[in-house]
Amino acid sequence: MSDKKRVSRRQFLNYTLTGVGGFMAAGMLAPMVRFAIDPVLKPSGAGGLVSVASVEELTNEPQRFEWTVDQVDGWYESEVQRTAWVYRNDNDEIVALSPICTHLGCTVDYGSNEEYPDQFYCPCHAGRYTKDGVNVPGTPPTAPLPPIEYEVREGMLYLGEAQSEGGV
Ligand code: FES
Repeated sequence: MSDKKRVSRRQFLNYTLTGVGGFMAAGMLAPMVRFAIDPVLKPSGAGGLVSVASVEELTNEPQRFEWTVDQVDGWYESEVQRTAWVYRNDNDEIVALSPICTHLGCTVDYGSNEEYPDQFYCPCHAGRYTKDGVNVPGTPPTAPLPPIEYEVREGMLYLGEAQSEGGV
């Protein structure tokens, strides 16, 4: 009577093993598929600007500002510290520069070399940049300090990522 509808032990094992195998295969394939298409789905240039200071704090003397951003690298999320040198130039325009030396990536400081108090100085190989970020000929860097993307909103200075035109 109803015996025909009963599942045999062999069928039950088949169904179970097929189900478990399917789950395992999906578990392995899903990360691979996501890894392949994830970068395509992400909006490019998503790094948002971060409010770092009031524009009233800016002077003609470059000041160092630091902030952190969340960085997602695959499935690894971390907080990354960013830094910029920011000042107002003679035209009262805001200038924001990356502190990463375009020679080999050390961090430059402003005014730390007593001989060149109005320049950015890289201690690694004595690289120098004028206040506007232009590399001084005869020193190791061959490209200017990259400008940092910035915005002013409601009296606050927002900083973003270094622009690539600096040649890093
Ligand atoms: S890394 Fe800056 S001068 Fe070499």
